[in-house]
Amino acid sequence: MAGQTERETWATRSGFILAAVGSAVGLGNIWRFPFITGQEGGAGFLLIYLLFVAIVGLPAILVEFVIGRRTELNPVGALRELGGEGWKYLGYVFFITAFVILSYYSVVAGWFVRYFLIGFTDGYVADVDQAMELFGAISTGTDALLFHALFMALTVGVVALGIRQGIELAVKFLVPLIVLLLLVLVGYGATLPEAGEAYSYYLAPDFGLLAENWMTILPTAAGQAFFTLSLGMGIMITYASYLGEDRNLVEDGLIIVGFDTLIAVLVGFVVFPIIISGGADPGEQAVGAIFFSLTEAFGSITGGRILGIVFFFMVGMAALSSSISLLEFVVAYLMDEHGLDRPIAAVGAGVAIFLVGVPVTVDLIFLDLLDGFMDAVLLVFGALMLSLFVGWVIPDTARDELRRGIGDVRTGDAVWIWLVRTVIVVVLAIALYLGVVDYVGFLTTDFADWLGS
Ligand code: TRP
Repeated sequence: MAGQTERETWATRSGFILAAVGSAVGLGNIWRFPFITGQEGGAGFLLIYLLFVAIVGLPAILVEFVIGRRTELNPVGALRELGGEGWKYLGYVFFITAFVILSYYSVVAGWFVRYFLIGFTDGYVADVDQAMELFGAISTGTDALLFHALFMALTVGVVALGIRQGIELAVKFLVPLIVLLLLVLVGYGATLPEAGEAYSYYLAPDFGLLAENWMTILPTAAGQAFFTLSLGMGIMITYASYLGEDRNLVEDGLIIVGFDTLIAVLVGFVVFPIIISGGADPGEQAVGAIFFSLTEAFGSITGGRILGIVFFFMVGMAALSSSISLLEFVVAYLMDEHGLDRPIAAVGAGVAIFLVGVPVTVDLIFLDLLDGFMDAVLLVFGALMLSLFVGWVIPDTARDELRRGIGDVRTGDAVWIWLVRTVIVVVLAIALYLGVVDYVGFLTTDFADWLGS
């Protein structure tokens, strides 16, 4: 990322889209989405999540786009320029968010790297119990620590050398390939005995259950939507700051949101038939769900070993393209605001982030502790503040900026800004409140029990 004096712009239209898709598509879609959906009861959650993406996610990505393109600055600088000194503190919150998300993101990405290697050594076993046992052995302890270190080192390497372009190009092939392989796995899922039951679990919402649980479903759906779209922490501000003027932001936003959502939804079609046919409860599979479903699939189909190796490799790359954007965010800030050299900033931040992630490799309760706070609280808070900022502090500037590159769309910008000022602000405020209540609940029950045991 260039400093304020020598700003680059994306060379091609696809450069921006690829980078944004590369950041958005990652563990949020493939690892987080299926277990969160299982935890929240299936179809009801999917429905709220999809509504959330459409009504809030798309307008919210545009909120970040207009701030970035207008100022051509990093989030701290952008907020300062448009809103004055006070708003720059929001930029500091974003810094902390990126830092902490990466700390556990790297641990989970390390698991995927480990599974990739298993394809070369032992192969994937179809037996569900064995698969669970394997996940238990890999997800914490020395293995987890080692692969966390390895993944963090890879991320630091890419950011320090500034060779992200290669990765962005890779995304061009990666994302379509992931979709393709997922379709193969969806096909496998469809052949399983309990596929029908799984589809109704995943697709037919039980509105009674929804009405009963909306107070946890809403904040969780909000957190998942922001996490998976890389929203709520200024990443998309940064990316849009490198844009030329003549782009249709709505179109780009639709492509990015569409791809990201497609991948997550497909993963559900793989995971739930496997879990339910294996006789397990999707609500109890937690963070390991994707791992033993995939192990089962790759252990069962012909050529599964090769497919598995390719799949885990691709997910690892997708995770890397997300993690470099998180580290880049931290490093760009340290370079811009504190004048550090790129390699020093990258290595220093990398080591610190690695250390914050270490407890997660000791006990998975720390994954809930960090992830819960980031998603249901900090990301929603960030998105709420940005919506308030764009909707109430700079509405005219924002509308003006959105219109650029679209041509003469008379009411689109008016509808958008109205949504941002009212519906989105209210929904996010409610989601934030419920998210805090939920998180405090977690601290006083599960976490307190863990501390006491
Ligand atoms: N969207 C990424 C994923 O789904 C994770 C993520 C969350 C992220 N916030 C981000 C990535 C900010 C880059 C920047 O895996």
